[in-house]
Amino acid sequence: MTTRAVVRGVGHYLPERVVPNAEFEQSVDTSDEWIRSRSGIERRHFAAEGETTSQMAAKAARAALDMAGLTPADIDAVIVATSTADLTFPSAATMVQDALGMDQGFAFDVQAVCAGFVFALSNANAMIVSGQVRRVLVIGAETFSRILDWTDRATCVLFGDGAGALVLEAAEGDGTNADRGILSVDLHSDGRHRDILYVDGGVSTGTTGHLRMEGREVFRHAVEKLAETAHTALGKIGLSGADVDWIVPHQANLRIIKATAQKMGVPMDRVVVTVQDHGNTSAASIPLALSVGMARGQIREGQLVVTEAIGGGLAWGSVVIRW
Ligand code: UT7
Repeated sequence: MTTRAVVRGVGHYLPERVVPNAEFEQSVDTSDEWIRSRSGIERRHFAAEGETTSQMAAKAARAALDMAGLTPADIDAVIVATSTADLTFPSAATMVQDALGMDQGFAFDVQAVCAGFVFALSNANAMIVSGQVRRVLVIGAETFSRILDWTDRATCVLFGDGAGALVLEAAEGDGTNADRGILSVDLHSDGRHRDILYVDGGVSTGTTGHLRMEGREVFRHAVEKLAETAHTALGKIGLSGADVDWIVPHQANLRIIKATAQKMGVPMDRVVVTVQDHGNTSAASIPLALSVGMARGQIREGQLVVTEAIGGGLAWGSVVIRW
């Protein structure tokens, strides 16, 4: 018998305010056509004034618990993947724990920027298969609108806010690829590339700072590294792109998503794409896409799902899940 971390529920939350590309034409030298053709983004949601990452995370968590038919009292641990926690500390996860009325278990954040959700899944999986916990809420939540430089057209048009959540639960499998649950994980980081995507503020400056990105450089790394990590994660369990039912990629750029799918030999009708509606929501993008993909009837129980993401650090990785 092999313990697996099986997905019991998913949910998401998007802030009410939807901002179409055209709105940026009034503030920076850009066009709807440029944003669509270079990134695939058509609109994004922005949090309301005062709306925080932990509030959005708690809403997504409640939706995931509802789908699982569970209550907060059933959860042993809460992990929030985020780079935009409400405060420097405490963690957004402890705020979610409180918002859900949990007086048991433990909660912490994982910070691997846009790759945060795959790092959080890896963490949750390790805690479950080792027997430390039975049920974990894994959440990706971000308010990147708080760290954008609204005068920098090369970045401010690309990002959005939102949250997605998964409930993972320990279940016994027989140790084969037919088991439901997380089947394989592959993670990487390389701090030498920290200057191509970062926020120029924090404890060392006493400011929150703004996101800075050399888009073309990040693009180049993404196209090279995402297919590689997905290939490695699949290879660890003797599978390849041909076995994949759905790629659920980090939603940064439609051109990166297409190039990665092509390298993996997976046609675009087996890729969940939400970038047009959400923009880049960093660590929230994969759980958002998993939740939307299920709601659309794309992702179904028993299918093989591959998630892959890259972001600041650089940090990147892939997780293979039998849904
Ligand atoms: O989530 C973390 C990972 N992040 C990513 O994966 C993002 C990766 N990078 C990208 O998605 C793309 O590089 C971008 C969408 C950011 C940019 O697309 P690109 O095709 O790489 O464009 P570029 O940066 O090479 O810029 C092309 C031109 C430049 O003008 P010149 O130098 O050719 O005259 C930019 O100044 O487009 C200009 N430009 C814009 N023009 C209109 C940059 N931003 C804009 C804009 N509107 N918003």
